[in-house]
Amino acid sequence: MLAALVLTADSGHTTAQTESTRPAAELMDAVMWNREPIGGPFALTDQAGQARTDRDFRGKYLLVYFGFTYCPDVCPTDLQAIGLAMDQLGTLAAAVQPLFVTLDPARDTVEQLAQYVPLFHPKLIGLTGSETAIAAAANAYRVYYKRVPFEKNAADYTVDHSAFVYLVDPDGKYLGFFPPGTPAERMVEMIKPYLK
Ligand code: NI
Repeated sequence: MLAALVLTADSGHTTAQTESTRPAAELMDAVMWNREPIGGPFALTDQAGQARTDRDFRGKYLLVYFGFTYCPDVCPTDLQAIGLAMDQLGTLAAAVQPLFVTLDPARDTVEQLAQYVPLFHPKLIGLTGSETAIAAAANAYRVYYKRVPFEKNAADYTVDHSAFVYLVDPDGKYLGFFPPGTPAERMVEMIKPYLK
C-alpha cells in the first residue's frame, strides 16, 4: 500500500518524455543494421481529430514517417517523395497508406496537421498526440528526436530527428526502411513487388 502511494505521488512529478532517451548513434544503428525489432502499437489522433491506432491500418501497406511540420527541408523533401511515390503507384496505391507522425506535438496540433498534410498527398494521414503517446510511437520505431532551441533559453526551437521512411506490411510487420532523401522512383521500385 505504501509503495503504491509512493509510486502514485512520484508519477505526478514525472515529466513527459519529450525527446529520445537513447543516443542518436545507437538508434540509427538499430535501424541501419536491423539490430532491433522496429514498429509496434501506437494510439494517436489524426488531422481530423479522430483517434487512430496501428490496428486501424491492418490490411494496408504503411509508409511511416516521423518528423515535424516546422522542419525546413528534410521532412518536406521526404514527404514530397512519399506523395510522388503514391501518385506513381497509380491504382496500386489503394493498398498503401502513408502516415506522418509528428515529433513536435506541442506545436503540431490537429489543426496544424490539417493545414500541413494535404500539401503532400490527399491520402497522407498526420498523427499527433500527447508527448507520452508520441514518445511511445517514436521509441517503437527507434526514432531519434530532440528539441534544440535556436538560441540559449529561446522558446523557439527546431527538432533534430532521424528521418527514415518505414515500410510496414498489412499485418503490421516491419519490412524495411528507406533512408532520408530516397527518391520516389526508388520507393515505387521497392514497394511495387509487394503489391502484385
Ligand atoms: Ni524533419
